[in-house]
Amino acid sequence: MLDGRKILVSLVFAAMAAVFAQSATNASGEAYFRANVKPVLENYCYNCHGPSKQKAGLRFDQGKSAFTGATPAVTPGDVEKSLMLSVISYEGRVKMPPKRRLDDEQIATLRKWIEDGAWWPKETP
Ligand code: HEC
Repeated sequence: MLDGRKILVSLVFAAMAAVFAQSATNASGEAYFRANVKPVLENYCYNCHGPSKQKAGLRFDQGKSAFTGATPAVTPGDVEKSLMLSVISYEGRVKMPPKRRLDDEQIATLRKWIEDGAWWPKETP
């Protein structure tokens, strides 16, 4: 039979395991963002949604702009709700980037990033 001490010990282990799992996803989320997502945003979106221009009031070099607003461009974990995904899929009226559709691989990259919770660097407001 489990006594109180054993229960406590197993709770502590469960909590530790959860913490480790959490930091592992954060670390890989960050790596994925830096290696795959940021370069796509930089090369294909910053020109019009970055430090110098903010078409439609959006900039993808700042999380606040990408994740907030009446219709957020990115809703972490929800591809259907994420305007970013619908515009890069070229299925609706608004198509981004306007001149040429991203490669399937680049679209898949942004999709996976959103599905996995859209890791973003901490920002000082
Ligand atoms: C050449 C300039 C240009 C580039 C490059 C560009 N955009 Fe845009 N973007 C615009 C303009 C202009 C609008 C407003 C268009 C409209 O509402 O019809 C817009 C609007 C948007 C919107 C809001 C759509 C809506 O319905 O409100 C999103 C989301 C968006 N862009 C995402 C992106 C993403 C993601 C990229 C890169 C993959 C990108 N854009 C690249 C010019 C650009």
